[in-house]
Amino acid sequence: MGTDKDTRTINFSNINGSNPILIRRCTLEDLEGVIEINEKELPEDYPYFFYKSILDNFTESFLIAVDINNNVIGYIMWRVEKVPAIDSLKITNKGHLVSIAVIKVSRRLGIAQTLLTKSMEEIKKKIIDEFVLEVRVSNYPAINLYKKYNFSTQSIKYKYYRDGENAYFMVCKAK
Ligand SMILES: CC(C)(COP(=O)(O)OP(=O)(O)OC[C@H]1O[C@@H](n2cnc3c(N)ncnc32)[C@H](O)[C@@H]1OP(=O)(O)O)[C@@H](O)C(=O)NCCC(=O)NCCS
Repeated sequence: MGTDKDTRTINFSNINGSNPILIRRCTLEDLEGVIEINEKELPEDYPYFFYKSILDNFTESFLIAVDINNNVIGYIMWRVEKVPAIDSLKITNKGHLVSIAVIKVSRRLGIAQTLLTKSMEEIKKKIIDEFVLEVRVSNYPAINLYKKYNFSTQSIKYKYYRDGENAYFMVCKAK
């Protein structure tokens, strides 16, 4: 679907002066690197077609961080979900954070922050009401990161993860 077109319109930004780290859109060629990071850094794995479908349908907000050798060192992916409003017949759009990770040696450089800032700008263009995500209740680095972006806990999803850990369901208004 949109993948071929969008690989030609990737955006670059350098977030680490002398040791450049570039943030740009993910392409089909980058997926292997994204999957490798996901498998190393997070217990939740997804099949290849899942990544491909996010890439095809939500290309603009599927961003990666690459080092000077074009190795993927971080990624973020979102999807937009249509959800019926609780108090009306209206259908609302929610930007759902599917996954974010940065390799261990490149953490605390502001990569996740840059990925979040830029991808949220893209998701906003889809006219969403809110951003939502789930995070393990023990994942303090990620919870701190999301709080910086004004996410707050709306509820707890009990035993959300396969190993039985609970998730915070965090929400941030888009407007
Ligand atoms: C969470 C994660 C993506 C953060 O990536 P990062 O590039 O190191 O984050 P940044 O450098 O952009 O940090 C931004 C903010 O996040 C918070 N943060 C990041 N790492 C933290 C840590 N180890 N302890 C506490 N807060 C932390 C801080 O608020 C930080 O802001 P500050 O540096 O001004 O204090 C990274 O730790 C990671 O990949 N973890 C494994 C995968 C994961 O848990 N993903 C989230 C699943 S919901």
